[in-house]
Amino acid sequence: MVIVLFVLLLYKELLAYFQTALLAFKVKGPKPLPFVGNALLINDSKKLEKIGSDCYEEYGPVFRAWISFIPTIFIYQPDHLQAVLGSSKQTDKNFLYSYMHNFIGEGLITNNGYKWLTHRKYIQSYFNINYLDRCVKTFSKHSKMLIKKLDNSDGLIKITNFVNDSVLNVLHEIVFGLQAEDEELKTKSPFRKGKLLVHERLTKPWMLFEFLYRLTSYGDMEITQKSKLQNFTKQVLENKKANRKVNREHSLLDIFIKISETHFDFTEEDIINEACTFMLAGQDSVSSAISFTLYFLAKYTEYQDRAREEVDEILDSCENNPKVSDLNDMKYLGCCIKEALRLCPSVPIIARKLSEKLVLDDITLPSGCNVFIAPYITHRLKHLYPNPEEYNPERFFSENGKSRHPYSFIPFSAGPRNCLGYKFAMLEMKTIISYLLRNYCIHLDQRSDKLNVLYRITLRAKGGIWIKLEKR
Ligand code: HEM
Repeated sequence: MVIVLFVLLLYKELLAYFQTALLAFKVKGPKPLPFVGNALLINDSKKLEKIGSDCYEEYGPVFRAWISFIPTIFIYQPDHLQAVLGSSKQTDKNFLYSYMHNFIGEGLITNNGYKWLTHRKYIQSYFNINYLDRCVKTFSKHSKMLIKKLDNSDGLIKITNFVNDSVLNVLHEIVFGLQAEDEELKTKSPFRKGKLLVHERLTKPWMLFEFLYRLTSYGDMEITQKSKLQNFTKQVLENKKANRKVNREHSLLDIFIKISETHFDFTEEDIINEACTFMLAGQDSVSSAISFTLYFLAKYTEYQDRAREEVDEILDSCENNPKVSDLNDMKYLGCCIKEALRLCPSVPIIARKLSEKLVLDDITLPSGCNVFIAPYITHRLKHLYPNPEEYNPERFFSENGKSRHPYSFIPFSAGPRNCLGYKFAMLEMKTIISYLLRNYCIHLDQRSDKLNVLYRITLRAKGGIWIKLEKR
């Protein structure tokens, strides 16, 4: 029986491979390089940027890319994105995510099928307004601590470092209930040093095979990292379980323990995997988006002034202690953040493996086809965003976006597998940025005048972002 199942599975995989390969030979796409194929596309935002500006004219509505010997299809038109991301039948992630297992374990981001669906349902039900209001208190506390630190700096700073630190402190408190003031935490937490190596694997074809990868120093490093993250989480979990009665904080770990008490299919291993997933999902994504927004606001001060006017009025009215509703009222700041996420989407590639065949206009994508979606490309399509390279928050005024397709802006993905932390992230970003605008006028330092982005599964600013702070 097991052998029959194995043969059937192998047949299905091979069929999907050959059907996608056949399609990849028919569809146009950028010129592949020997061995790596077009893997650099997933590694290099400059290439994505270039393709984004002229892909439609050059390749038509979809294009193929070879990730070494693996054929993939890139889609970028909003109606095509909706057909994949919007479908409850196309929720499976592809091989790209299995390369993240070594690092973040098998949590919501990488899981598929029943496990993903049940975990999503269990966890999502806790992300309600009461929970978010509690989170906002933590965001405010850490924003105030950030301002104190910045007040003690000399004003010329690499803001990316400060923001990364602050976001990580928020996560330690919200996920684990650990306080940032705890000096030991700073040196002990392995989440400060985590590094995802997917991009290294994609450009070295032999590393695509798990058993070969594990023999390399990268594989070794990743496994060591994984066990450090998991051991740390396990220890915090054990402490939490032991002190649960006296422990009154409602961290995500407390929530996960509660879920495991009512759902037998949410095990201790799941708690650890999901805690690691949230620690990593909420880290670079948020700090990059904050840093990029600050870059644009520092560069285009007319938008900074207008955002500050709004922030001052709202923070005055709530005496500097915003709630979810106050942050939701920061509409202009919201547009500034969205426009930064349009140009610099923290997650520049999303991928799926089709569970069933899909017809997109006159092209049929076979079941099992690896589909790649690049918000980086979609967000630069000229017919959706005229002058796409120009930073202009007004694109997101409600009256200006009415005619835009709902899948033309996808920094948080969309559909049933969209970002679970979307509202959390927007509130966190608004809190931190509003405190900064409230306290300082932000000027761009000349060494960061030209933005160079670096792709590492999440997008980052190469060399960090240097700004000058002028106390108000
Ligand atoms: C600016 C900040 C963020 C951005 C741009 C962002 C973006 C995304 C994107 C694009 C996905 C889909 C990934 C894919 O399908 O491959 C995703 C998934 C996810 N994000 Fe976020 N994210 C952000 C912040 C956060 C935060 C703060 C958390 C948690 C507190 C979080 C938790 C998750 C989780 C759990 C998933 C998996 C959802 C699922 O598959 O069901 N994210 N995020």
